Amino acid sequence: MIKQPAELAALQSAIDITTDSLQTLFAPDLLVSYQNEYELEADLTREFRHRGAAGHAFAPIIAGGKRACTLHNVTNEAPLGAGELLVLDVGAEVDHYAADITRTISRTPPTPRQQEVYDAVLAVQSYALTLIKPGILLKEYEAQVEVRMGEELQKLGLIETADHDTIRHYYPHATSHFLGLDVHDVGDYLSPLPAGVVITCEPGIYIPEEGIGIRIEDDVLLTEAGNKVLSERLTRDLYS
Ligand code: GLY
Ligand code: MN
Repeated sequence: MIKQPAELAALQSAIDITTDSLQTLFAPDLLVSYQNEYELEADLTREFRHRGAAGHAFAPIIAGGKRACTLHNVTNEAPLGAGELLVLDVGAEVDHYAADITRTISRTPPTPRQQEVYDAVLAVQSYALTLIKPGILLKEYEAQVEVRMGEELQKLGLIETADHDTIRHYYPHATSHFLGLDVHDVGDYLSPLPAGVVITCEPGIYIPEEGIGIRIEDDVLLTEAGNKVLSERLTRDLYS
């Protein structure tokens, strides 16, 4: 669970390659040229290998619009619809270590609704990141994030009463998992976490009836001072 310097170097390299590769795909002229999900997968594979990664650390998830509500949509076969948001949940592998980064991006100016749901996910992620520090107990953290998510879902008009079941209808997965040799690495979910642990932070909101699925995921190292977001360099703008 506690990563040694050589492990952190491999992880950072995997994260940097993932970051640089996604930035390449997000160049506006290239991004609007894609017609199908698999074209992004093809280019991403090329970008990972071109930068020296072994390849994908896990089956990449590239999902437009409503398909992003399928959490592990790995077929990546569908045509990209006009005005759909695009979720990319991907990671390069370097020296057997996995990156795991998700960005949601709009290829055209987003609708006010898409932007407000995106901003809600971003607000929950910002809050969750403030909680990640040595001593954190993932079960308590998850409960705190759930409360914050409930406030956002109420503001979005999606739920009236915020309780576990209503919140999890729109946010049906955990906020964090361990990251390392495996994308869902082994780790102790029941004890306070020490410095040197790397976890993801990946809240999302999924509204199939509106054709909206949004997730934002970063990779976070617990440090003596709190945490360091290893994937900080990658833009979190919905549209540029
Ligand atoms: N990257 C996919 C997942 O965390 O499940
Ligand atoms: Mn993940």
